[in-house]
Amino acid sequence: MKTIRFGIIGCGLMGREFASAAARWLHLTESRARPKIVGVCDTNEALMGWFKAHLPSVKQTTTDFRELLSNPDIDAIYCAVPHLLHGDIYPQILAAGKHLFGEKPFGMDMAQNKIISQAIYDHPDILVRCSSEMPFFPGAQRVIEFVKSGEVGDIIEVESAFLHSSDINPDKIINWKRMIDINGEYGCMGDLGMHVCHVPLRLGWKPETVHASLLKRVANRPDGKGNIVPCETWDNATITGHVAAQDGDFPLVFKTWRIAPGESNTWSLRILGMKGSAFFTTKSPRQWQFMKYERGGKQTWQTEDLGYQSLFPAITGGIFEFGFADAIQQMWAAYVDELAGGDGNGFHCATPSEASDHHAILTAALAAGKSGQVKDVEYLA
Ligand SMILES: NC(=O)c1ccc[n+]([C@@H]2O[C@H](COP(=O)([O-])OP(=O)(O)OC[C@H]3O[C@@H](n4cnc5c(N)ncnc54)[C@H](O)[C@@H]3O)[C@@H](O)[C@H]2O)c1
Repeated sequence: MKTIRFGIIGCGLMGREFASAAARWLHLTESRARPKIVGVCDTNEALMGWFKAHLPSVKQTTTDFRELLSNPDIDAIYCAVPHLLHGDIYPQILAAGKHLFGEKPFGMDMAQNKIISQAIYDHPDILVRCSSEMPFFPGAQRVIEFVKSGEVGDIIEVESAFLHSSDINPDKIINWKRMIDINGEYGCMGDLGMHVCHVPLRLGWKPETVHASLLKRVANRPDGKGNIVPCETWDNATITGHVAAQDGDFPLVFKTWRIAPGESNTWSLRILGMKGSAFFTTKSPRQWQFMKYERGGKQTWQTEDLGYQSLFPAITGGIFEFGFADAIQQMWAAYVDELAGGDGNGFHCATPSEASDHHAILTAALAAGKSGQVKDVEYLA
């Protein structure tokens, strides 16, 4: 089995998730290649100790990502840093000749995303993918297959949502994801937008116009140092897009909410059609629901327990539950598979052009939400 040597830039929440997925690669029963984390970088030195303690393969630790990029023993980089830094660091990774798995939103805003897109264009031999793990849940895959098999018929509506709730607590301490200068003006859309756009874009549903309701409920937050500071980012966004389709135009609703009472981390996808409908939510990770309708017939939703039926086969028995850490590992399996010449077992990770399209949607949604008008979505050619 081929080994792909990785460096990680950003040893925070997501850097650790990759390390965990890589450390239990034995979980997968069929894989063309395995990742080996050989170097890590974070400006906060304290965070790198965990990697050194748990991953004997880590030989390089540095606070300067350029040192990681000049290491000839690194083939690919996972970059999981605050949004502000994407536009500067991603192009440097490509210029160093390293493959890139970059965290969303792939640039803090459209301007940064264009810089990243240009760098990708200038380095056509480098494999670049964007993080978005939720579609790797078996139930999400089943909904995608249902659509692809033509079971839906004319579409009535598509809703893709990602709901968080912890921001309902006004005492929650502010972090960079709630600061415009580090997270970007998109606010909750920049944080959650790629998650909700990924599958619709993969299925070819690109809204031509959007309207957006943007919500700001918590205007100030504690900073953890005894002060109350402004919290300027949008809390919730409900974006309604208009998709032109041969068999009839339809609405596409994206919800990126950080204040959704009771929802800890719910990603869902609902497709309603004249012949068939399908639904998956990470709230019921083992199941998906679908309805097949015949003219004049009964309208009965069915629920099927799927269990652990992953894209990349694993040791876990098929009856058991699949979870967030599994979705992360499956996403990584898809990227590593592509690096080793595969096709990600039929569902590759989000592409740079999907990331760019999602920026076009979010940019239009931000303008629509601020102006109260419907805006055209301007996709790059
Ligand atoms: N795919 C997902 O489900 C998911 C979930 C959460 C976050 N994310 C994304 O991951 C990225 C990071 O988010 P996070 O939650 O891990 O944040 P985090 O704050 O936990 O980690 C970011 C790390 O980057 C480090 N850092 C900052 N500047 C640096 C620099 N110049 N060089 C090296 N390290 C630097 C910070 O010290 C921090 O440890 C963001 O793009 C975010 O949108 C993705």
